Amino acid sequence: GKVVLAYSGGLDTSIILKWLQDEGYTVICYIADVGQDDDFEAARAKAIRLGAEKVFVEDLKAEFVTDFIFPAVQANAIYENRYLLGTSLARPCIARRQVQIALREKAQYVSHGATGKGNDQVRFELTYYAVAPHIKVIAPWRDPVFLKKFKGRTDLLEYGREKGIEMPAGDKPPYSMDDNLMHISYESGNLEDPKNPPPEEMYLKTGHLVDWSDKPETIRIEFRDGIPISAAISGEKNPETDPLKMYLWLNEVAKRHGIGRVDIVENRFVGIKSRGVYETPAATILRCAHIDIEGIAMDREVMRLRDMLSPKFAELVYNGFWFSPETDFLLAAIAKSQELIDGWVDVLCYKGATMAVARYSPSSLYDENIASMETVEGYEPGDAGGFIRINAIRLRAHREILMNTPID
Ligand code: ARG
Ligand code: SIN
Repeated sequence: GKVVLAYSGGLDTSIILKWLQDEGYTVICYIADVGQDDDFEAARAKAIRLGAEKVFVEDLKAEFVTDFIFPAVQANAIYENRYLLGTSLARPCIARRQVQIALREKAQYVSHGATGKGNDQVRFELTYYAVAPHIKVIAPWRDPVFLKKFKGRTDLLEYGREKGIEMPAGDKPPYSMDDNLMHISYESGNLEDPKNPPPEEMYLKTGHLVDWSDKPETIRIEFRDGIPISAAISGEKNPETDPLKMYLWLNEVAKRHGIGRVDIVENRFVGIKSRGVYETPAATILRCAHIDIEGIAMDREVMRLRDMLSPKFAELVYNGFWFSPETDFLLAAIAKSQELIDGWVDVLCYKGATMAVARYSPSSLYDENIASMETVEGYEPGDAGGFIRINAIRLRAHREILMNTPID
């Protein structure tokens, strides 16, 4: 059989590449570029050297931004109030292209290196099945044959040496990291004990605390239909308008100011609690700006309903259901809620914090005259007395009951 393997160039997926060949498969390696800091040409050469029949290096950066990150910005998607879903959003983007390649290359199998205890296996495989219902999945980290052969780290290292897989140079980071243009996540190692704070040197996308700029900067983000369409230092001309370039530029700005760190214990879909640390620079600025533009341009009751959908959307994304009828339904509802979310917001960035300080919308629902209590058509202050008394009917009835009910 033929298998398309999601390959990173690291030790684990290199071992899987060799092991699949031992098991009699022809292996096509698929390397997804979602903006992680890797040497893709080195990974390609390594895959060929280790016996891959073909290697595809796919640049998914632009579609990751426009098809996955921006809809999440529109939805104000955040998992358990803190995690901006940097890995969760990348997985369906990566897995979609992987099955597309499998279909094109007439491979019956796809494979990945995610463990049997995490969310990623779920996200990869739900995407595979949703896009290619008849595909077969090989998950080595759940495969009894694989697990019997590799009982621990020493077995893996020995096999690696035997197969001529060169070990990564330098010290392996003491965490499990997932890097892409949206975020870096850090899990396991020393972080497994939630009592341990992460060391400052760990952080790569938010600079080091002592280097954070002493000069605040104000960034202007412009939206159309709730999608960021340009970004610049406020007051400067020639904003970035290309989605990917704009996103990467915002990452740089956020890095100068240390924006986007969180350190949490979260609930994995598989029922395990897990300690994770994240740096999500640009998305943290965009979230701040997006929530603010909605403040001025979104109808109150639409906002209430969308705010009920937002946690559900985040949960579906986290749990791997990007390609599902229920996510389609929510995406359509969210897109509808964004039709008048236009204008700009100025976000002040300083020492790890973001704060919206000015905004303008051509579809603003805010009326300075109404707000400042000048006489306005349609608003009679006298009407408010009746409005309040009618709302008080229930409250009065409740109080009477409390007073007249004997305490037993
Ligand atoms: N806990 C995060 C999530 O579930 C990050 C997972 C990181 N994955 C990894 N293979 N290191 O989205
Ligand atoms: C893994 O288990 O492969 C990484 C962590 C996760 O998927 O939640």
